[in-house]
Amino acid sequence: MDFRFDFSLVLAKNLRGGDGMTAAQVRRGLRLAEKAALAVARRHASGEIGFPDLPFRLREARAVSREAAKLRERFTHMLVLGIGGSALGTKAVLEAVGGTRARKGLALAVADNVDPDFLFPLLRAHPMKSTVVVAISKSGTTAETNAQLSLAIEALKRANGRSWKDHLILVTDPVKGIFRRMADAEGISSFPVPPNVGGRFSVLSPVGILPLAAAGVSVERLLSGARWMETLIRERKPAENPALFASAVYSHYLTSNPKPVHVWMTYGRGLERVAEWWQQLWAESLGKRRQDGRSVGQTPARAVGVTDQHSQVQLYQDGPPDKVYTFVKWKKGRETGNVPRAGFSPDMAMLGGRPLRDLFEAEFEGTIGALWDAGRPLVRIEAGAGDEAHVGALLHFWEWVTAVVGECAGIDPFDQPGVEDGKKITRALMGEKGALSARERFVRKFERRAAAEIRIRSSG
Ligand code: PA5
Repeated sequence: MDFRFDFSLVLAKNLRGGDGMTAAQVRRGLRLAEKAALAVARRHASGEIGFPDLPFRLREARAVSREAAKLRERFTHMLVLGIGGSALGTKAVLEAVGGTRARKGLALAVADNVDPDFLFPLLRAHPMKSTVVVAISKSGTTAETNAQLSLAIEALKRANGRSWKDHLILVTDPVKGIFRRMADAEGISSFPVPPNVGGRFSVLSPVGILPLAAAGVSVERLLSGARWMETLIRERKPAENPALFASAVYSHYLTSNPKPVHVWMTYGRGLERVAEWWQQLWAESLGKRRQDGRSVGQTPARAVGVTDQHSQVQLYQDGPPDKVYTFVKWKKGRETGNVPRAGFSPDMAMLGGRPLRDLFEAEFEGTIGALWDAGRPLVRIEAGAGDEAHVGALLHFWEWVTAVVGECAGIDPFDQPGVEDGKKITRALMGEKGALSARERFVRKFERRAAAEIRIRSSG
């Protein structure tokens, strides 16, 4: 395993412009992170939070793998229904290990939207006779996933008649919620989401590992990488602990020298999907109101190297100094091809005959160099390669860092009151039973807003 966390370019002694961390700030940050990690560990020991256990649930992973092997014999396609934490981890891991074509397994699609122009064509594109639908909702009360599920059931019934239930699996809370009641009442096959694991921390539970195993991803290796990271975080002294240093650095740029934006710039195939997963983790865990009423949070942004060098980097270099940067890269890529030796004009001759990867590496180093030169605080993370073990380690690292940074900031990184409010309003607007007064209250309040709009309709 190979993992590098390099924070030399946030140190004041290496960064001009005054945005770096002094040695005293690093020491203080590390002490704070250590205390916060102990607080997270106490919540874990009491059973309140469960994400650190997931890499060790090997019996469950083996059972999931066995089920996935059976699914691969019976079906050609898997359609996952779910949203947020019930979808993003699967998409991230799948893309990071090379996409559907890199592994032998079911063709896997994740439907994490209810835009009719997305969902209906996706359903129509699936051969429902040979498709297994996996509907994932921890709460079971998410309107989007319920709507998707009813449409999928309709399509499954149309294609398979009475055997539609053999094409459906529910992943949900083991005891409560609409999905659990449905699984129990209808005898539909199901897998549990541990009650103490929230959506965005659940990729290593059946939420992620069932679809990934079905797509041919080795979930055993995914968990072994996460286990390696968990052990390292638990056992390393603070001075050698990458998660504690990362928490110290990111806490500094969240609360002490607050940078409203955190940019992940990725260099490596599939990492842009990991960045999407991280965006939810960072935004939903850390965007909170503290007990004293003050808001905390950082807008997570993503950029793809080298593409966005020609789109975003100008802003990063010369725009407002309101960002902290994390550059994420696979140490080793897959392809090794060379650029042709001949045919370049003299001023491009340095490209000739060299591995294309040399250029990619130079772009990575060059962009870091340019931002460093502009005095922008920057961290670089390099993980071995886009394989299951390194992906597992990377995701688990970020779950810990997010938890500890949240604790440092004095907020609860594991709840999401804002998302829950949005879900309630949506259900009320759709006419949820018993929610009529909530709906009326919301509509009345909303309609009182001052109008400010320009509508143009023209037949031309
Ligand atoms: O991280 C979270 O808790 C959320 O993003 C949820 O995953 C998302 O809202 C979906 O919830 P559920 O799995 O209950 O349908």
